Amino acid sequence: MPSNRRLIVVSNRLPVVLRKDDDDHWILKPGSGGLVTALAPVLSHRGGLWVGWPGIAVEPDGEWEKVLAGGFRQRGYDLVPVVLSEDEVDGFYYGFSNSVLWPLFHDEANACNFDPDFWYAYLEVNRKFAAAVVAHSTRDDFIWVQDYQLIHAAELIREQQEDRRLGFFLHIPFPPPDLFQRLPWRGPVLAALLAYDLVGFQTLRDLRNFLACVHRFLGGVEVSEEPGGVAHLRVGERTVHAGAFPIGIDYREFHDMAADDETERRMRELSARLGGHEVILGVDRLDYTKGLPERLLAYEHALRRFPELREKVILVQLVVPSRENVPEYQELKSELDELVGRINGKYSTAGWVPVHYLYRSLPRRDLVALYRMARVGLVTSIKDGMNLVAKEYCACQVDEPGALVLSEFAGAASQLSDGALLINPHDVEHTADVLKQALEMPLVERRRRMETMQKVIAEQDIFWWVERFLSVALGEGKEAPEALRDFVPRMDTSASWVDV
Ligand code: ADP
Ligand code: G6P
Repeated sequence: MPSNRRLIVVSNRLPVVLRKDDDDHWILKPGSGGLVTALAPVLSHRGGLWVGWPGIAVEPDGEWEKVLAGGFRQRGYDLVPVVLSEDEVDGFYYGFSNSVLWPLFHDEANACNFDPDFWYAYLEVNRKFAAAVVAHSTRDDFIWVQDYQLIHAAELIREQQEDRRLGFFLHIPFPPPDLFQRLPWRGPVLAALLAYDLVGFQTLRDLRNFLACVHRFLGGVEVSEEPGGVAHLRVGERTVHAGAFPIGIDYREFHDMAADDETERRMRELSARLGGHEVILGVDRLDYTKGLPERLLAYEHALRRFPELREKVILVQLVVPSRENVPEYQELKSELDELVGRINGKYSTAGWVPVHYLYRSLPRRDLVALYRMARVGLVTSIKDGMNLVAKEYCACQVDEPGALVLSEFAGAASQLSDGALLINPHDVEHTADVLKQALEMPLVERRRRMETMQKVIAEQDIFWWVERFLSVALGEGKEAPEALRDFVPRMDTSASWVDV
């Protein structure tokens, strides 16, 4: 580890969500999404503090606080809850975070609602998070803020504690200037990012989009870029570093769990229940960025054009409910229900249902068993920061491996292009062809491709990612550029300067 400073992770979500059970007692459920999956093992290994929102609007000083504190021994790190009122959840979370920044940064500008009240709620809640960090940190800690919900945290922390070491990582894509320009608060948002010491992005493309936006919309910042995904921005007296740090998974944990006897038993059970058919697997939060309708349409095309697939394969689609108060998410849910109904209505036969659609979160063991048995992992994101599902699928291929069909618009494509079958999810006919190709691919080719991907995912896992980020952020014993050169990611460097 580059440092034994205490790590304080700050993210909108804690790794657990508070819920009431049937007897009206508070219980903790695991949070959903890639950020939580990726960072939970980091804090378990390293210890430290996680500052975040427990997932629902609650009163301060309730019974729930004891429940939240209770799991410390099991987790190995402390949780500091930031309590939000219902109005704050509406304006900050559903509003600015998920109806402005999320759609804008994912190329969905038409889904944005640039309501100024959302912006003020965002700043207020960022201030609340900053206050929680100020109250729980010392100058020896490293404060690592995660994701688009909390861009302004550093600026607001520095108002009170100028000398804090602060890093930021953006888990979602960063948009090109022509798109970013639409944001009425583009100047303040960029300036807020420059309050960190190090700003991390998933891919070179995101880094370059950010640099292009700084160049276009902020004056007086001198930028120098080095090969290998590093840049330095001179902001007055300070130097801010920016880099590309593709996030990984806890490869060992997924791989070992996939290979153990209990998973094998579970896999056999599930396979028998699914009629022993070959499985194409999709695993996503319910989100319009995941290309779920496109995926179903491509599968429908494949069934229509290649009748030999009927009664032989099934699509198992797991969907975790997400952001249910945002209208676009509700509409997507209805669209999926309709598409699944249409495909199943048209093609089902006695003993064979083409789409198995599960709208809920699954226990890790079941998820891993499904990954292991799936012949094809199918990721069709329209835009995606990284997509950890693609990496989890590969990590769980412990028998004769399957094939990964991966959208070229997922950040993971920049690392996995040598092994995955890349698709443009808008091209449903081509995706249908590639699905057939994946199902028919000879074992020797599947093995070669999967080994290539597993090597990258195992080497550049979540611990590599943390170490790389912290070495640069803390620069202990080394200058930041030198520290970065020690950890050059396996990434496609052909990304154009800006994503236009
Ligand atoms: P995002 O962060 O946008 O949700 P990712 O693919 O990066 O997308 O991460 C999704 C995470 O959620 C993965 O770690 C995956 O294992 C988990 N996940 C997705 N669907 C389910 C499900 N139905 N049950 C359990 N976990 C799920
Ligand atoms: C993505 C975002 C995370 C977010 C997660 C789940 O992974 O990058 O910041 O936590 O989705 O979304 P939610 O709105 O439920 O936190």
